[in-house]
Amino acid sequence: MKQPFERILITAALPYANGYLHLGHLAGAYLPADIYARYQRLKKRNVLFICGSDEHGVAITVSAEKEKTIPKTIIDRYHPANKSVFEMFEMSFDNYSRTSLPLHHETTKEFFREFHSRDIVIAKKELQLYCDKDKMFLADRYVEGTCPKCKSTQARGDQCENCGTWLSQTELIDPKCKICGTTPVVRETTHWYFPLGKYQQRLVAYIDERNKRDGWKDNVLRYCDSWFKDGLQDRAVTRDLNWGVQVPVAGYEDKVIYVWFDAVLGYISSAKEWAAVNNKPDAWKEFWQKEDTKYVAFIGKDNVVFHCIVFPAMLMAWNDAHTDHYVLPENVPANEFLNFEGQKFSKSRGWGIDVQDFLKFFPADMLRYALAVNLPETRDSDFYLKDFQARINNELADIVGNFVNRTLAFTDKNYGGIVPQLGKLSALDEEMINTLKQTPIKTGELFEHYRFREGLMEVMNLARAANKYFNDNEPWKTFKSNPERCATTLHISIQLVRSLAILLEPVTPATSAKIWKLLNLNTPSKEDGWDSVSNFTMNDGHQLNKPEILINKIEDKQIDEITKFLEGSDKLQASLPIAPLKPTITIDDFKKIDLRVARVIEAVKVPKSDKLLKLQVEIGNERRQVIAGIAKHYKPEDLIGKLIVVVANLQPAKLMGQESQGMILAASDESGSLTLIGVQSEISLGATVK
Ligand code: 2FM
Ligand code: ZN
Repeated sequence: MKQPFERILITAALPYANGYLHLGHLAGAYLPADIYARYQRLKKRNVLFICGSDEHGVAITVSAEKEKTIPKTIIDRYHPANKSVFEMFEMSFDNYSRTSLPLHHETTKEFFREFHSRDIVIAKKELQLYCDKDKMFLADRYVEGTCPKCKSTQARGDQCENCGTWLSQTELIDPKCKICGTTPVVRETTHWYFPLGKYQQRLVAYIDERNKRDGWKDNVLRYCDSWFKDGLQDRAVTRDLNWGVQVPVAGYEDKVIYVWFDAVLGYISSAKEWAAVNNKPDAWKEFWQKEDTKYVAFIGKDNVVFHCIVFPAMLMAWNDAHTDHYVLPENVPANEFLNFEGQKFSKSRGWGIDVQDFLKFFPADMLRYALAVNLPETRDSDFYLKDFQARINNELADIVGNFVNRTLAFTDKNYGGIVPQLGKLSALDEEMINTLKQTPIKTGELFEHYRFREGLMEVMNLARAANKYFNDNEPWKTFKSNPERCATTLHISIQLVRSLAILLEPVTPATSAKIWKLLNLNTPSKEDGWDSVSNFTMNDGHQLNKPEILINKIEDKQIDEITKFLEGSDKLQASLPIAPLKPTITIDDFKKIDLRVARVIEAVKVPKSDKLLKLQVEIGNERRQVIAGIAKHYKPEDLIGKLIVVVANLQPAKLMGQESQGMILAASDESGSLTLIGVQSEISLGATVK
């Protein structure tokens, strides 16, 4: 890390308290933040890692309306739930706060008052959409319409999610109230605007400077550039809602501050709460208001504009008139998105898996490992359950688990679990020690630059090298033939086990804790930091604990169980998107297709094809051969006798050298499932289908 930094302030995006956390959230912001925080603590740096629930805004009020309840019910359900899920996932936050706290409201009002008194925020009378039926202004997600830029029909009042454009709601084409569906009217109201445009030049310079110093990610720079290219506009920072932080200006108490204005300040409130809870009321200032703090903000890509542009501009505005300067993010290493089984996580479509559900089936460390090797750091990545199983079994269990197990089991069996003496080093030993010395340097360098996936690869490479070292030294032979060699091999292997406990701690903390226990060093001591990874601190003669399997492999049946759970909870089934519709046809177009009922009388596989079946079908008194791509879904013998529907006037074609005189109808969905269209009850063969 570049000196002059004395402290590291780490924030992770405050999740909305209106739904459960899913795997995509973890991969986007939380796991990388936690790896970074844990690594920095191992480097013995002074770290403050904070987060909390984002409890305001229309995301919350809409959820409450859907359930016919009040926002407080929603946040009081999801805040504790998400807090405890983070604990289960072993997030090492120093504080997890919530934005409904009076402390947070006060912090937000302080910023607003400051900007109001210095005329930074300006009141403007403006036209807004108002629903006569619901008697309310339609803020943000309360109105939906067509985006004037990309023509997506689901643009919201504040932003089009499809193209990312910030909108003023009166720009929406054909707006509709989200609650009742009627067309809103236009009414005048007053809102305060933050003049982002005035900060554009300074923001460009700020990002440029930090990028030079700390290397910002390309994706983040690209997002920022496109905002700058469009030119930053004044941005309304108040709303006509009754849920949020009240506008602290006399006569306007019925308005609240825009959620994004308060949410980012939640990072400051969370630090204040941490300080108060720890009886050091001013300690938060050390982190927020001292120049030599390095502030890193972890977020998902959808939050870039707020963290790289809006929040820094707010802090600049504050800093301009104060000596207690807030630090601006040194870096905002935003991740792209994680997909689940090939599709985007979606709360509305119910697609994906919640963290708490996943953790009912597998321990947190397995999830942490599988996400870490697959983080969407530079592009969207995919999470497949089968891939998860393979990663855990072939990597975490077969490489790390295997090395730890064989080392400790061998020591237990042959040395009574006592660390044997290190003797004279061979060339292989030297080579192994050299690899060991390189690993914390390489991984550390990668972690410092937010390249967690590659950093973990280096650790896994060390574990691979350790297995090879064990094999090449053949201690099972040298135990008799060359006892000193054998003792040295095991001594070095035990040191490597300890090194892995430290190197893996940022990613798999529970596994590391288990290793320390097996080493009979229940908690790592102060000396067991990142810089001690390659020190040989396991003393000759130290008694180890009885070995236990470190990582249990995932069996197929466990994957079946979680898949069944997902199907049962409608998570996978109900949510598949339908394939895009084809252009409209006329009834006459449809009538051109001659559909007939037929019976399958013979079915065999087409040689050399794993997809095709050759069917003989009867249509009236005519017999036809039809080649159908259903071999992966139906066994030939199961088809005999079935009544199906055939396109009878399709031009014959050859498939894999076989003539096909028609086509059978089947339904298939985006997941690749397929089922034949059958006929419910007996009807004569050749009957037309209309
Ligand atoms: O996208 C979200 O879930 C927001 N609640 C993130 C807020 S991050 C910060 F500003 F608090
Ligand atoms: Zn309405």
